[in-house]
Amino acid sequence: MPEACCAQSAEDLQKEKQLDELFAQWRGVKGALIPILQGAQEIYGYLPKEVLLRIARELKLPPSRVFGVATFYAQFHLQPRGRNIVRVCLGTACHVRGASKIFERMQQELGVGDGETTEDLRFTLETVACLGCCGLSPVVMINDDTHGRLVPDKLKGILEQYD
Ligand code: FES
Repeated sequence: MPEACCAQSAEDLQKEKQLDELFAQWRGVKGALIPILQGAQEIYGYLPKEVLLRIARELKLPPSRVFGVATFYAQFHLQPRGRNIVRVCLGTACHVRGASKIFERMQQELGVGDGETTEDLRFTLETVACLGCCGLSPVVMINDDTHGRLVPDKLKGILEQYD
């Protein structure tokens, strides 16, 4: 459909414009690589390969250095992320209260494993070692929402709240 194609291009152009502004903002500044990677990830939601290559060109750095930094820090994502980030706690307090069953059911509900994103980009599933609210164990966080004292049968209804 021509409309969909044009809408997509307009969105891409908008992102490129934002990227240009980001480069302009950091031009000539030492140590700009990390803030530029952060800014680019905010624009794109993750760091596509072409964007990393563009950053290398703009900063006159070897691509291997840019890719090295982007893969070293856990804050950077080289694959598309879901609109909703699901974090299942597998820490000790949650573990003793059945977190593995929660995680198992969550994987079934979403059809993806740890670190993976659903095909429709609705959810990314991750595991964490503690969410800092052990009193509510077992706990799952979806974006900024905490869901505590969970049982597997509650998950489906909770996931339905997120588009
Ligand atoms: S161990 Fe799960 S919230 Fe702390």
